[in-house]
Amino acid sequence: MAVERIVDTSISDDDSDEQQIEVTLRPQSFDDYIGQERLKRNLKLAIDAAKKRSEPIDHVLLYGPPGLGKTTMATVIANEMGTNIRVTAGPAIERAGDLASILTNLTDGDVLFIDEIHRLSRTVEEVLYSAMEDFKLDIVIGKGPAARSVRLDLPKFTVIGATTRTGALAAPLRDRFGLIHRLEFYTSDEIGRIVARASSILESQIHDEAASMLSTRARLTPRIANRLLKRVRDYADVNGDGIIDTVTTTEALAMLEIDELGLDPADRNLLSSMIENYGNNPVGLNTIAALTGDEATTIEDFYEPYLLQIGFIERTPRGRRVTRKGYEHLGKTHPDVTVYEAEA
Ligand SMILES: Nc1ncnc2c1ncn2[C@@H]1O[C@H](COP(=O)(O)OP(=O)(O)O)[C@@H](O)[C@H]1O
Ligand SMILES: [Mg+2]
Repeated sequence: MAVERIVDTSISDDDSDEQQIEVTLRPQSFDDYIGQERLKRNLKLAIDAAKKRSEPIDHVLLYGPPGLGKTTMATVIANEMGTNIRVTAGPAIERAGDLASILTNLTDGDVLFIDEIHRLSRTVEEVLYSAMEDFKLDIVIGKGPAARSVRLDLPKFTVIGATTRTGALAAPLRDRFGLIHRLEFYTSDEIGRIVARASSILESQIHDEAASMLSTRARLTPRIANRLLKRVRDYADVNGDGIIDTVTTTEALAMLEIDELGLDPADRNLLSSMIENYGNNPVGLNTIAALTGDEATTIEDFYEPYLLQIGFIERTPRGRRVTRKGYEHLGKTHPDVTVYEAEA
């Protein structure tokens, strides 16, 4: 991404401070994991049933925008099953051989968490789904005419895949997952509870009104809630007595240029460029990307989900367009208004 955004839902590899905070704040059990009630109900049932049969649970695919708790949920599942978790990611498994060595090192019941599973190469995908299907691994030994194929038995393991885009997954791989779940945006009430939990773990004092201010500005996303809390806490430490009240929160958020709905300058720029160049007409994803100077996938994964959720843009068959709500938030007049008045 071109500029560093406080509301960025990704987490950069070089920000070790942030990674440390994520680890500290990451819920370990279903009881700590706030919200996503439907997902938790389904998973609890699957886990209880698997435990009764002394089998691993079915493969699980979690999808949804970044920062909503997919990685966290994978850890929770492994904890609740009382098993080990092995963590890897799509781009890290380059060749079929890499996957083979991961798989042959698992033991019965292990969870293999594959983040960004949509980024596996097709050849690796193929090896994976046959392994998921019958816990066997076919490998070719040798080259040319001397090559022969051997079939290895694998331990009974569970794959938990995480992805921001299920559409990018090949159908045969998708079909190997018994449980496919979308993570939803949180309610601001749930985000409020996440903020309260995080501030008590970080031992920072926060007033209720300040917590609720944060909960409406965190884009309904736990990762952003935790990040805002940390920034506001730093601000309160430097500019006050460390207590987070509405005054410090307002000042810190103003400094970060985050408005009352959690939009930052990059979001507002995206909306206003769409309006200035295309009015309320539909705009294609690549055109939007060209307007903001981002990758199309960045728009799709990071900007769009929340803007769609709060109804500021909508998807049409011909592209995305800014809604009346979006216009109003920017203090701009929606083109329909004139027509409407003329009719009245
Ligand atoms: N349901 C939740 N309750 C409390 N905190 C959560 C929850 N989901 C996520 N978090 C917090 O948000 C952070 C980001 O979540 P993560 O699982 O890494 O998101 P994802 O993998 O979907 O991008 C975690 O470190 C955790 O502290
Ligand atoms: Mg993750």
